[in-house]
Amino acid sequence: MARLNINGKSHNVDVEAETPLLWVIREQVGLTGTKYGCGIAQCGACTVHMDGVPVRSCAIPVSAAEGKKITTIEGLAQGGKLTKVQQAWLAHDVPQCGYCQSGMLMAATALLAKTPKPTDAQIDAAMTNICRCGTFQQVREAIHAAAKA
Ligand code: FES
Ligand code: FES
Repeated sequence: MARLNINGKSHNVDVEAETPLLWVIREQVGLTGTKYGCGIAQCGACTVHMDGVPVRSCAIPVSAAEGKKITTIEGLAQGGKLTKVQQAWLAHDVPQCGYCQSGMLMAATALLAKTPKPTDAQIDAAMTNICRCGTFQQVREAIHAAAKA
């Protein structure tokens, strides 16, 4: 049994301590915006925030998430209002197939919270997520736009 705080709500889940946080978010809590890509902390599709820090939830045991504030893609918009990062994503037509994009948005949101005006080098260092559709240039443009918004 684990007790989690996800997007400001408390959830009690009946799982083994070593169950990856990603599966708990998707299967037990039912928030399917966080995606499974590689399962080995390489692609970033499963990125969520843990106390504001971007983490790859496929590689985090649920026991390590207890007592932390977890935020998923579903927790970014507040009261139906998209964040400035999400709005920049739409304005720059970033998503192609979309599969990697919730992880991209979580990584970009964490970057801008820590570094409000990132350089290209800082963006490249923070955005290690993999996109099979090759949206990297649009991601960079949208991050710069969100930094100016
Ligand atoms: S699914 Fe977690 S990093 Fe790829
Ligand atoms: S938008 Fe298709 S994998 Fe990134």
